[in-house]
Amino acid sequence: MTKGRFITLEGGEGVGKTTNLSFLEQMLTAQGIYVVKTREPGGTPLAEKIRQLLLETHDEAVDPMAELLMMFAARAQHIRHVIKPALARGDWVLCDRFTDATYAYQGGGRGMAMDKIAWLERAVQGDLRPDLTLLLDAPVQIGMVRAKGRGELDRFEQERYDFFEKVRQAYLNRAQQQPERFVVIDASQPLDEVQRAIKSRIDSLMADG
Ligand SMILES: Nc1ncnc2c1ncn2[C@@H]1O[C@H](COP(=O)(O)OP(=O)(O)OP(=O)(O)O)[C@@H](O)[C@H]1O
Ligand SMILES: [Mg+2]
Repeated sequence: MTKGRFITLEGGEGVGKTTNLSFLEQMLTAQGIYVVKTREPGGTPLAEKIRQLLLETHDEAVDPMAELLMMFAARAQHIRHVIKPALARGDWVLCDRFTDATYAYQGGGRGMAMDKIAWLERAVQGDLRPDLTLLLDAPVQIGMVRAKGRGELDRFEQERYDFFEKVRQAYLNRAQQQPERFVVIDASQPLDEVQRAIKSRIDSLMADG
């Protein structure tokens, strides 16, 4: 049995997370690896309900702390029912956004204190952290153009440009602080270049055993 790995894909709106998660799934599956592909917020029936609450617009303003706690409530369900069991089986978990997104959106975007997020991270996750995080980075405008035309905008997509700029910077700051875990990929490149970069990184992760 191979050791399970926990890989997350991060980045702002429309940078190519979902596209490249499927690419990664195919690549690993072709090598005989059992892969669990999942996403946050969500990944279990209850967590997906919380996702809906987070993404839909409401008549009342959503308190940033309420938003933060809902993110971690969904995450607690996801870790318990999907992520930990998969890693215990030796499967690889590929997750479309995880806690770095909370630091980027609720921390960077909404201005919630990073130490409060870190406290919740420890309380909810214990020692669980991704083995590798691929940060797809591109100028905000590029992601926005790519994400366009998908119908109605959700509560986050309705934010203004400077919100997404702060999200991008918060992601890049985290990558700089934790270079051993993060790989920053220039997502403004053509898709085949992005995927070449992802493949080379995964190949070296496999070579490390
Ligand atoms: N490197 C690329 N060059 C050009 N187009 C791309 C590239 N990567 C992804 N796309 C296209 O951009 C669009 C958005 O990609 P995708 O849905 O994977 O992004 P995402 O990061 O998951 O977005 P969201 O944040 O909204 O979930 C898709 O139409 C996809 O085919
Ligand atoms: Mg997506």
